Amino acid sequence: MDTYSIALYVHLLALLAAIAAASLMHFAEARRFAATTRLEVLPWLGLAKSVSRVFPLSLLVLFASGAYLVHKIWTWDTGWVQAGIVGVVVLFASGIVIGKRSAAFAKALVASPDGPLSPELRAKNHDRIVSALSWMNTGIALGVVFVMVYKHALAFSLVAMAIGAGAGIVVSLVVDRSPAAESAPALSPE
Ligand code: HEM
Repeated sequence: MDTYSIALYVHLLALLAAIAAASLMHFAEARRFAATTRLEVLPWLGLAKSVSRVFPLSLLVLFASGAYLVHKIWTWDTGWVQAGIVGVVVLFASGIVIGKRSAAFAKALVASPDGPLSPELRAKNHDRIVSALSWMNTGIALGVVFVMVYKHALAFSLVAMAIGAGAGIVVSLVVDRSPAAESAPALSPE
C-alpha cells in the first residue's frame, strides 16, 4: 500500500471518529435538554464534554492528512481543497462557541442546589444556540464530504457546504420543537 492510500485511510478514519462522536453528542444533548433536575442534567453534560474532545483531534487529523494528500498530487489553489479548509476553520470556531456556552452552563449548574432546575437554569439548559451550532456542524461536515467526493470549483463547493449548514440548522429547529425535547423522562447514562 502506498503512502497516499494510507493517508487517505487515516483521513477517512478521522471522519468516522467525528461522525461517531457527533451521534453521541446529539443524543447526549437531546437527553440534557429534556432533563429537568440538576442530577438528571449533570451526567449528560459530562458525556457531551468527554465526547467533545474528539472533535478538535479529528479536525487536526483531517487537516494534516488532507495536507499530505494535497502535497502529494493536488495543488493548494484547487477550489474544493480551499473549501475543505474553510469547513475545518468554521467547524473549529463553532466548536469553541459550543464549548464556551456549555462550560458556562456547567459552572452555573454545579453552583446550584440539588433538585429541579430554576426557570433561569432551565432556559440555559435548553440552549438553542448550542443545538443549532451542533447540528449545523454535522451539516457542514456532510457538506465537506460531498465537496471532497465531487471535487468542484470553490464557489460551488462553498454553496454545497452552506446548504449542509442550513439543513443542519433546520434539523435543530425540528428536533428542538419535538415533544421529546420538551418533556421526555431524562434517563441517566449511569
Ligand atoms: C471536515 C473536514 C473534511 C472532511 C469531512 C473530508 C472528507 C473527505 C472524504 C470523504 C474524502 C474521500 C473522497 C474520495 O476519495 O473521493 C476526502 C479526500 C480528500 N481530502 Fe478531505 N475532508 C476534510 C478536510 C480536508 C482538508 C482540510 C483537506 C486539505 C487540506 C482535504 C484534502 C483531501 C484530499 C486531497 C483528498 C483526496 C482525494 C482523492 O484522492 O480522491 N480534506 N476527504
